[in-house]
Amino acid sequence: MLDLPKRKLGRTGLDVTVLGFGAMELRGTAGGVRGGRQLAPGQAEKVLNGVLDAGINFIDTSIDYGDSEELIGSFISHRRNEYFLASKCGCIVDPATAPPGARHLYTRKNVMDGVNQSLKRLKTDHLDLVQFHNVSSRQEAEKEGALQALLDLKREGKVRFIGASSSLPGVGELIAMGVFDAFQVPYSALEREHEAAITQAARAGAGTVIRGGVARGEPGHGLAEENRWKLWDRAGLSDLLDGVTPMEFLLRFTISHPDLHTTIVGTMNPEHLAQNITAARKGPLPAAVYNEAKRRLAAGGAAPA
Ligand SMILES: NC(=O)c1ccc[n+]([C@@H]2O[C@H](COP(=O)([O-])OP(=O)(O)OC[C@H]3O[C@@H](n4cnc5c(N)ncnc54)[C@H](OP(=O)(O)O)[C@@H]3O)[C@@H](O)[C@H]2O)c1
Repeated sequence: MLDLPKRKLGRTGLDVTVLGFGAMELRGTAGGVRGGRQLAPGQAEKVLNGVLDAGINFIDTSIDYGDSEELIGSFISHRRNEYFLASKCGCIVDPATAPPGARHLYTRKNVMDGVNQSLKRLKTDHLDLVQFHNVSSRQEAEKEGALQALLDLKREGKVRFIGASSSLPGVGELIAMGVFDAFQVPYSALEREHEAAITQAARAGAGTVIRGGVARGEPGHGLAEENRWKLWDRAGLSDLLDGVTPMEFLLRFTISHPDLHTTIVGTMNPEHLAQNITAARKGPLPAAVYNEAKRRLAAGGAAPA
């Protein structure tokens, strides 16, 4: 069986599988995390071990993803040398310290507390990557000592590399700072806004981690947006399928981006995981199909920013 292709995650030098795993789907329903679904007994253990058994070596999670960090700690921390572990910071650790309604808090104390909590939950002594969760500007990252806290954690060895999970327009100035080792942005055929930003990040030497690589699932599913899928029809992408499923097509379109290093597709369904692994093993779309898909998407109104 073919191995999953690997790419270097920018200046981190980590050899990551082009298909990573987004562990948000393991968030469960406790605490009312948006879009969370109940997991059956044994399901998280099966999915997480299936991820590693297939050779996927990059897992993304967050303090904000309900049970996700604890499930990783419980079920695969004994296999810690098989995966690079990315989590987030700026997520609110103690709601009593945050302004009402705030979703993130970029202060030194909250960052420190968050990383220390993640280490405990994930049952590990280091995180390979810690990303500011949804940071939108340089000012936000720097103003209350949050960035300095991450740099201090890096010096202490609790964190190997630091990154930002962000989006346009702020991601441009974050890349220009030159301090972040990796950037996480959304991208798929149906969401091409960050196509050039991915290249900008990679050219600056950073790693690129892509979320939304299968457009958040089929139309009508979970957090998938109907409007996004109207583009699929407008662009006539079904004509290009040549026997593969839309999910496979989307995933292979995503990994066809030459500056993408890993896409952290999320699933709580072992069958979907197996399908994604099979698709990723096939690698990028044939060049002619990829170019035609991009031409059709542009004609359908989805040219990159
Ligand atoms: N701001 C941020 O930092 C941020 C925001 C969002 C997400 N993330 C990270 O990025 C990861 C992925 O992002 P995402 O969840 O937005 O997008 P995604 O990976 O494109 O979509 C995940 C959804 O697609 C479905 N899916 C996956 N494979 C499938 C298949 N083969 N067939 C049918 N459906 C399939 C999953 O449902 P099933 O479970 O039913 O398979 C899940 O609901 C998350 O897990 C998280 O780690 C980060």
